[in-house]
Formats: sequence, C-alpha cells, structure tokens
Amino acid sequence: MFYSDDLIEEVRARNDVVDLIGNYIKLTKKGSSYFGLCPFHNEKSPSFSVSRDKQMYYCFGCGAGGNVFTFVMEYENYTFLEAVKYLAERAGIKLPEAEVTEAEKQARNRRQKLLDIHKEAARYFYYQLKSQGGANARDYFEQRKLSGETIAHFGLGYSNPYRDDLYQFLRNRGYDDGLLKDSGLVTIDEKRGAHDKFWNRVMFPIMDVNSKVIGFGGRVLGEGTPKYLNSPETMLFDKSRNLYGLNFARTSRQPFMIICEGYMDVIAMHQAGFTNAVASLGTAFTLQHGILLKRYTEEVLLAYDSDEAGVKAILRAIPILRSAGLRIRIIHMNPYKDPDEFIKNLGVDAFKERIEQAENSFMFEISILEKSYDLGDPDGKTRFFNAVAKKLLTFEQELERNNYIEAVARHYGIPFENLRKLVNRFGLTLPEREMPGENRPLPEKTGDRSGEYPEALLASQKLLLTWVVNDAGLLKKIRPWLGPEDFVHPVYQSVCRAVYESIEATGQIVPGQIINLFQEKEEQNLVAAIFNSDIAGIEDKNAREKALTETVVRIKRHHLDEMSRKIQDLSELQNIIRMKSDLQNLHISL
Ligand code: UTP
Ligand code: MN
Repeated sequence: MFYSDDLIEEVRARNDVVDLIGNYIKLTKKGSSYFGLCPFHNEKSPSFSVSRDKQMYYCFGCGAGGNVFTFVMEYENYTFLEAVKYLAERAGIKLPEAEVTEAEKQARNRRQKLLDIHKEAARYFYYQLKSQGGANARDYFEQRKLSGETIAHFGLGYSNPYRDDLYQFLRNRGYDDGLLKDSGLVTIDEKRGAHDKFWNRVMFPIMDVNSKVIGFGGRVLGEGTPKYLNSPETMLFDKSRNLYGLNFARTSRQPFMIICEGYMDVIAMHQAGFTNAVASLGTAFTLQHGILLKRYTEEVLLAYDSDEAGVKAILRAIPILRSAGLRIRIIHMNPYKDPDEFIKNLGVDAFKERIEQAENSFMFEISILEKSYDLGDPDGKTRFFNAVAKKLLTFEQELERNNYIEAVARHYGIPFENLRKLVNRFGLTLPEREMPGENRPLPEKTGDRSGEYPEALLASQKLLLTWVVNDAGLLKKIRPWLGPEDFVHPVYQSVCRAVYESIEATGQIVPGQIINLFQEKEEQNLVAAIFNSDIAGIEDKNAREKALTETVVRIKRHHLDEMSRKIQDLSELQNIIRMKSDLQNLHISL
C-alpha cells in the first residue's frame, strides 16, 4: 500500500457519506437514513439508502453498497488509489507526494498542456459555430435535426475556412509550435508554414471518460471527401482505447450499452433518449474497446449500419467483444441504414421495440453462415449443419452448449438429439477442439472464490455477521463458539476479525471503517450487504434464540467437518469429536 492505513482512515472519516453522495444524486431523509434513486441500476422508486450513522450506502435493489471510497470507485470508475486522491482533495487533506522523476514530471506537464489546448480549441470551434460565419454549419445541424441543447451537450462546433485561424488563436494564447504540432490540430511545414488540420467542417470534440477533450472529428458540410477527418493519434488520443459518447453513456443507468458506427448515430441516439450509445472512432472495434466497456456493462447491443459493410463489421466485432466477456445482441435496423435514419423515420418507440427484439449474436452468426449454403439441396444442408455443429463446439460449458443446440434445432426444425449427436461426434473426432483463440472467454477473475462455497453456508455466515453487527452484546455469547477461522469466505473472515476487535476495543462498530479494510469493489459490496441485511422478522424471543443457535451450530459443524477430513493426528480428531458432541447441547440465550 502506498498510503498508511491511518491516513486512509482519516480521508474516509473527513468525507461524510451523505454530503458526498448528496452531490451526485438527490437524497431525501426518511427516518435515520436518506433515500434516493440508485445510480447503479435503473429504477423508478428509491431503494438506495445512505446512512450517516453507519457512514455507508446500500441499495436494496441491486446490492451495490460500501463507504465513500466504494461510491466514487463505482460512480467515477476510479481505482482505489484514485478514489483516495479524489476524496483527500475534497476534504482538503494533503497526501504525501510520491517520488516522481524529472522525465515523468515533464510528460505530465506536456499532457496537461495538450489537454488545455484541446479545451481551448473546442471552445473556439463552439464560438465559431455561434458567430456570424457559422451560419452554414448551423444550417447543417438544423437540417440533421440536432437541437441547440444537443449541440451544447456534445460541444459541437465549426472550423472556419481560413487556413491558419486556429493556429493563430492558439499561438496568441502562448502555446509554442512544438506543442501545437504534437496536438495534431495543426501541421507545420518548412515551406508553407503552419495550417490548421480542420477547416470548413462541423466539429465533434472527442472526450475521454472524464469528459476531457482529447481529439476531434470534423465532417464536411454536405458531400465531399473525406467525409470525416479525425485527429491523429497523439499523446492524449488513442483510438483503440476511447469510445465516442462513453463519458455520458457510463452513467446512463441502463443494463446494456449500444454500440453504433458513427458520431451522428451516437448523437441522434442520445438526443432520442438512448444515452447509453457509444461508437468507436473511425476504427474497427478492438479488444481494448471491449475491455473498456466491460468496466461498465455486461451486455452490448450492436446497432451497426444495415449494409454489407455493417454486417462485416458486426461479424468482426462479435468475437472481440465475446473475448472481453461481454454478452452481445444485434439490433436490426432494416429497412433503414443506421440508427440516425431509423429514429428520424420511425421514432423512439419503434427503436425501443428493435432493442427488445435484438438478436442473440450466435444466432446472428448462424443466420449469416446459412447464406453461403443451399439449404434446398440435401448436400448443402448437410454441409451447413456440419459447419453449425463445429461452431456449437466453441461453447465450452455443457449447459450453455445444450441451450444453443436446442435453440438452433428449434430454429431449423430438426430434432435436438440429432444435432447434439452431430456436435458430440465432432467433439470426439477433432484432434484439437476447434477454438479460435479470440473466441475463448477471458479467465475468471482471480480472488473471488465465493463460487467454491455452498450458497446456504455463505448465507448463514452472512446472517450471523449481520446479527453481531446489529447487536454488539451478542459477541460475548458467540465468541466461545465461533472465531474468524470458522468462516469460509476470506472476506467474512476479515470482517469477523475486525468486528470482534472493534467491539472489544471500543464497544461499538463503524461499518464505514470496516469496509475500509477492503480495496476491491466486489469485496466492499459484500461487506456492505452484511451491514444492511434485515434480521427482523422473528418476533418471538425463543424462536430467535433457536435460529441463532442453529446458525452458530451450522457454521461450526461445517468447519469441524472440514478439519476432520484434513487432520491425521488422533488426539486432535478426538478433540473435534468432543466439540461436535458439545454442539448438540448448545443453546445460546438472548
Ligand atoms: P458513416 O459514413 O456511417 O458515418 O461512417 P455517419 O456518422 O453515419 O455519417 P453521416 O450520418 O453521413 O454524417 C461511420 C463512422 O466512420 C468514421 C466516422 O467515425 C463515422 O462516424 N468515418 C467515416 C471516418 O472516420 N472517415 C470517413 O471518411 C467516413
Ligand atoms: Mn449516418
């Protein structure tokens, strides 16, 4: 760790969770907690609660929860260290400087200056659009049905027809030729001097996820080539790691993202209310794009052009997105060319319908494959099903594979068993499983081992911890029976240890502080869930005692069973047997 635990705790303690979250979403006080609409899933009535006493938040709808660090990590998509820095600054706490080399300092400096240049340029283009000379560009946007609000939201602009106007403007602001050259916004050549890259185009600022302008796209007004001109790759702008519109889409609170092909598609979609639309920037989709999206969503819907090029682009993008671990569906735009045209002609509701009807990506691939075979001919049909069977083998998990076999069989009206046999035959005869590398899912995240433990056991352990954190007095009664080592999940072990220590030392628990022990969002969510579960419901004291006792016994017995399987030593084994028989008579009174 980079900062001391004390310092991190100070940062946490000096950022009140209600104040912080209140800056992001509207909160209303209800009893001792505050409620609002959860920013992490789509909902109509508030199930997102924030507690000043506990210094934590929890969503009863989607299970998101944690302390101030978790919140900014989830909302801003910061790493833990970024969250610490952000909150330290917010609270006016000075963090010790990390050692940086002179070269690093210079690079950082240069980067900042390039960002400044882009910001100034974006403002300049916006100003040009609004000024007298921008009439044609304004007409163009109007003809494409963009509202003034949309233009301002995306910061659209206009580069006037003079060859070095932007260059002169930026020079006057004090930026030197070297920097301006590196920005990609001007070219400087010995003989002809400096000239602007973009002129007489409508301008689309490209922003990174933090809404910082890092490049531009410029479109001709009407016909002409190239239709779009884009910033070259620079120190700021890496096309394979940025997506147009993602700065807005990432907070759209939708369960999926929509990927389109172009700037205008994204803008038209956002204007129509589909604020989860993004586009790659004049390049093919890359694995980095996929991984970037995976930070924000589990599923993507492709809304590419309906022409041949669009279909090709979809077929290329599918395996890449799949290998990033995303689920994929295809939105059909016919009879229109792209989302922009579709929405203009058929409207928002029709597009919503298309979203609902979006086709599973595997079935889409099969339907394209089908076109290269003559299904009317027995031979063509055989070859087609052989090809499909081979493709079905790419599903490693049997359940998933069978589900797809079933779907394909149903679609083509052939018996499930026939197709399954065919698939299995390929599975046996292929020397190597035909598995193109790009089709393989990424390995499961390491660290999360919750999948190894039985649900019910985990639930009991969580319940018990919830019990203790709600009633510190219970500790004395449980302590003789259960310790951290009795919990199977590493997170629960740590929570148990921390809760015990905290109660013993201070007689109380600050949940926000305990969440601090964990740096992964997933872990923090898990801990937050412990502090927000409900244990009410059992009114009767006897019944409560019985439930508590049973829970303790279940957890302890599981641990003893585990131990007895591993232990060789006879006397220790006898010990375990004795403890087990003690458990039979256990009764914890409240
Ligand atoms: P399209 O030609 O489909 O663009 O190219 P579009 O957004 O639908 O254009 P409009 O509706 O005619 O204005 C899709 C994307 O490919 C990139 C751009 O990012 C564009 O948005 N592209 C296209 C270029 O980079 N250069 C080009 O010359 C054309
Ligand atoms: Mn278009």
